[in-house]
Amino acid sequence: MTSVIIALDFPSPQTAHAFVERLPLRSCRLKVGKELFVRGGPQFVTQLVDQGWDVFLDLKFHDIPNTVAAACRAAADLGVWMVNVHALGGRAMLAAARNAIDQGVGTQPLLTAVTVLTSHDAASLRAIGLNDTPAQAVNRLAQLSADAGVDGVVCSAQEAPELRAQFGPAFRLVTPGIRPHGAAADDQHRIVTPAMALQAGASDLVIGRPITRADDPAAALQSIDSEIRLTTPTDGSD
Ligand code: C5P
Repeated sequence: MTSVIIALDFPSPQTAHAFVERLPLRSCRLKVGKELFVRGGPQFVTQLVDQGWDVFLDLKFHDIPNTVAAACRAAADLGVWMVNVHALGGRAMLAAARNAIDQGVGTQPLLTAVTVLTSHDAASLRAIGLNDTPAQAVNRLAQLSADAGVDGVVCSAQEAPELRAQFGPAFRLVTPGIRPHGAAADDQHRIVTPAMALQAGASDLVIGRPITRADDPAAALQSIDSEIRLTTPTDGSD
């Protein structure tokens, strides 16, 4: 399985389904975020799962431990491949999410945590009472996540080398902000190519518009996969 996760940032389940039909089954993984989930509901997710797709349910749960545990259990019941939470929910919340998934029957999704949203800078962190630099906050929250047994974090490729060194090869580093050579940056400020992200230590690459807006999405994905294969002689992702 390739390490590419396509961000299904579509306004409706219908447009998302029409797009997915243009991809060879299991040629990548699919990320469903808040907009599509709110519009398409769990039914949309189970349709993708039933078709055979690995789904990353990107809802970034952040609430009291009991509520997040229940939400993670509900996500696991949908059969998703990965679910995520905000590390800012704290140690007890992360542990509750971990336990909820471990105690579930059937499919156990990977559990990842968002550390610091990349939309934050030092000033906006200070405004919410976090006086660390964004890099320090990322490291601290990644450590908290790893200590709670979380499988990995969502991070930028810039943060990946340090996190890879800190947490070892099995820790998932899920990185957005990826642009193949020649692709438009869109609204992303710090972009890296798929090869650069993998070299930085990323395990999973979240890619949206370079594929979702391509005239031929399957060809765009294939070309990214070719670049990845040149970087990683054996595609070791699972
Ligand atoms: O179209 P593009 O490749 O920029 O899409 C990136 C995806 O990754 C979007 O779904 C976006 O919300 C998500 N994301 C991001 N940056 C983060 C976290 C998530 O771009 N820090």
